[in-house]
Amino acid sequence: MNHQETSSINFFGEDAIPVELHKVRIVQKLHLRPVEERLDAIGKGGYNTFLLNTKDVFLDMLTDSGTNAMSDNQVSSMLKADDAYAGSQSFYKMEQALKEVFGKEYILPVHQGRAAENVVSQIFIKKGDIIPMNYHFTTTKAHMELNGGKIVEILTAEGLRIKSKHPFKGNIDIDQLKTLISNHGASKIPFIRLEASTNLIGGQPFSIQNMREVKQVADEHGIMIVLDASLIGENAWFIKQREAEFKNTPIKEILRLMCSFADIVYFSSRKVSSTRGGGICTNSKELFLKMRDLIPLYEGFLTYGGMSVREIEAMAVGLMETTDETVISQSPSFIEYTVNELEKRNIPVITPAGALGCHIDAMSFLSHVPQKEYPAGALAAALYIISGCRGMERGTISSVRDENGEDVLADMELLRLAFPRRVFTLSQTKFLIDRVHWLYENRGLVGGLKFVEEPEVLRFFMGRLAPVNDWPQKLVEKFKKDFGNSL
Ligand code: F0G
Repeated sequence: MNHQETSSINFFGEDAIPVELHKVRIVQKLHLRPVEERLDAIGKGGYNTFLLNTKDVFLDMLTDSGTNAMSDNQVSSMLKADDAYAGSQSFYKMEQALKEVFGKEYILPVHQGRAAENVVSQIFIKKGDIIPMNYHFTTTKAHMELNGGKIVEILTAEGLRIKSKHPFKGNIDIDQLKTLISNHGASKIPFIRLEASTNLIGGQPFSIQNMREVKQVADEHGIMIVLDASLIGENAWFIKQREAEFKNTPIKEILRLMCSFADIVYFSSRKVSSTRGGGICTNSKELFLKMRDLIPLYEGFLTYGGMSVREIEAMAVGLMETTDETVISQSPSFIEYTVNELEKRNIPVITPAGALGCHIDAMSFLSHVPQKEYPAGALAAALYIISGCRGMERGTISSVRDENGEDVLADMELLRLAFPRRVFTLSQTKFLIDRVHWLYENRGLVGGLKFVEEPEVLRFFMGRLAPVNDWPQKLVEKFKKDFGNSL
């Protein structure tokens, strides 16, 4: 008898209910504050969800960075950490885990992903260089530009389409790559950067086939490949799901294969191994030696790199767990569920569902808010006010100004609702979906934002904004009318 026909709950296919393959053993109390308090909190936070205090947040969907749930094995490993400035045994465990999972011999520890970007950019990028990539990440771009480089994004056209059925929207366009090399010459291109589960376009993966093609072009011109592996686990999971050749390949082999195309692999451990910290690894002694001396200068001695030994222990265990399908599929399966449910309610979201979070298309959700009034930021603030759920703006606020002081409008205006691994339950997810739906039905009440305090670098972190008129008060009035005293 077909199990799926007899079961009243569908765990597989289009309307699949994600199942938690873990049990909750330690919990943290959450607070759902009354709507007026949330309005007050977002006002004090300059309408920037980065500036909220988590005591005022119900579901913290800002990021998966440093917020994935740790496993019992990770937590217990921390008790075995070997305190030492130099030569800590914890470091050698991590080195061994990296050899096993990424297949790389040499490792440079750093305090987090952007520190790796600093080192790689300082060593390999010189003024006037061009760095082709599938898509930038905010800190990546900042470090590369700081060193005089110019990033060029060479995604396929499908990559920036909100609604798509393409399984690999993070792929590089090979023709554009070839043209770029012939226009600028290989000597101007220190490396090609590939970002796994391309963050800013909705956590979209690339395929092994695409990596093979990029590698072939890179080899023809003697150009290095640098892989940002911060979200490599999820990318490997999508390869297994979506690339026929790999449907029976163990994740461990897919991860190794992905890393084998890269001369340098760097990562944020805050994501890939559910801890803190990061690293840079390579099989080339020459590349290793080129970068090595910057580690004691910026990070710390070579066997801790700015991390605590406890974090290093947990990182070693977390890296091994990244080869476990039940671990890396957890976040994507909740994201897929949320994306499917929002689509059923006609709410514009990025498809196919990707890694890291559910991405709402704020440009079409709030089509009446001009892009210069930051629709994604406004949507993030509005959702917080009416639900206590905190997402992250990934749009023009996360962009920069040009030399004339004008906003460089982002390709996409996204509200990212992150699903850190094994943190939220299905009922919390349903609460979120319900509130997003209410907001969509009342979207006409949401207006734009303007900057009142704007830092010059990475302004989205600390910038303060204000609503262009009194729309937040009107939104709260409608909320109270519909929800009464309920939170
Ligand atoms: N690369 C990618 C692809 C990232 O997503 C991040 C961080 C970094 C590098 C930088 O790593 O934070 O450890 O310094 N992404 C976080 C996010 C901040 O919320 O998406 P880090």
